[in-house]
Amino acid sequence: MTAPRLSRPRENIKVLLLEGIHERAVEALAERGYTNVERVMSALQGDDLAAALAGVRMVGIRSRTQLTAEVLHSADRLMAIGCFCIGTNQVAVDDAARRGIPVFHAPHSNTRSVAELVIGLAVMLFRDVFRKSTRAHRGAWLKSAAGAHELRGKTIGIVGYGHIGSQVSILAEALGMRVLFYDIVPKLILGNATARPALRDVLAESDLVTLHVPETPETRGLITAERLDQMKPGAFLVNASRGSVVDVEALAERLHDGRIGGAAVDVFPREPQHKDEEFVSPLRGIDNVILTPHVGGSTVEAQRNIAIDVAIQLAAYSDAGNTTSAVNFPQLNLAPHEACHRVLHVHRNRPGVLRAVHDVIGGESVNIVGEHLQTRGDVGYVVLDVDAIDQQTALPRLRTIDGTIRARILY
Ligand code: NAI
Repeated sequence: MTAPRLSRPRENIKVLLLEGIHERAVEALAERGYTNVERVMSALQGDDLAAALAGVRMVGIRSRTQLTAEVLHSADRLMAIGCFCIGTNQVAVDDAARRGIPVFHAPHSNTRSVAELVIGLAVMLFRDVFRKSTRAHRGAWLKSAAGAHELRGKTIGIVGYGHIGSQVSILAEALGMRVLFYDIVPKLILGNATARPALRDVLAESDLVTLHVPETPETRGLITAERLDQMKPGAFLVNASRGSVVDVEALAERLHDGRIGGAAVDVFPREPQHKDEEFVSPLRGIDNVILTPHVGGSTVEAQRNIAIDVAIQLAAYSDAGNTTSAVNFPQLNLAPHEACHRVLHVHRNRPGVLRAVHDVIGGESVNIVGEHLQTRGDVGYVVLDVDAIDQQTALPRLRTIDGTIRARILY
């Protein structure tokens, strides 16, 4: 299949990648014909950012570049934003949507990294490695089998059986663990895992409980003092989900008195915003607690996967209008358009716009062979596959329809 022609050649589409995004992104874009890519190693702000965005059609950032409403206003050529990370808080996503700019991200590129760390932490907890290592660093020799266990035959309780939880399930089972899980929605059960209808059951039956829920109003404070008391005496807790999910004061109390056997925590209610800020937590200084600085998903492999994933999403939007994983935009998953032209129209979601789009297409006397529409809040996105259409006449007419935010035609 030959790639569709765009109204402007791919090599003329200016792409800016900030914050040292992994070079696989540049390669993935080049493989798809996008060779006009500038890669900057730092984050930019203020006038530097505005200047760098001049003429840029697609920008890639990580978490430190703030794409505020003001910045978006000055970036008048911008067509798509790729956040080469999980979060999109650094972008004024609603404002971007109102400007017809989808914001992509890579929520699951680091799934495996988190799952592997959880298994590693489980081994460390069951073998009491952290305490033994810390003591050895201080010159003490805690050589004992007491309290050290294999994972094999133990029960792991997974709370949240989504992307990460289900990967943990597979890995844990491969090590001979019995897997229980609790999720609020019915899930495809992998391997020999068993779903439990209530969180309480998973807490009560597991030798190690690991949390993999998203941050929602329901999961905020999910693991309260009362829930911790429902866990088996001496069981372990792992939290690599979100800091707000666990009452850390209550957890610290139970770790001190041995009610909870140990914990591994990667995410915290308050996390330092930069490397010079002190990390403060009631969990500090407890020797059966492994603390990691929110690095569950931070691996070179995850960075590379993120680079490929987001680069592909940007190219798929430019090539075909695909918006499947955009966080702020009507989502359309479009097959490549073969032997036809594709009209993309982003507009205010209000009566009359679609009729006007059809009028323009009808006026060109071309047949519509496929049509896809999605709306999200104030924004509507319609894609029409049509017989050959003259962009010189159709595009200006589409752009002057009242309520139009953006229009493009792909050949
Ligand atoms: P996901 O969305 O694929 O899975 C979450 C699962 O939790 C879903 O199956 C959902 O139905 C379930 N769930 C939601 N509310 C629940 C509740 N009240 N009780 C039980 N189950 C509930 O998410 P994914 O990708 O597996 O991520 C899970 C968590 O891991 C998220 O909080 C994410 O922020 C965090 N994460 C942490 C990283 C780190 O560096 N430590 C890296 C990547 C993700």
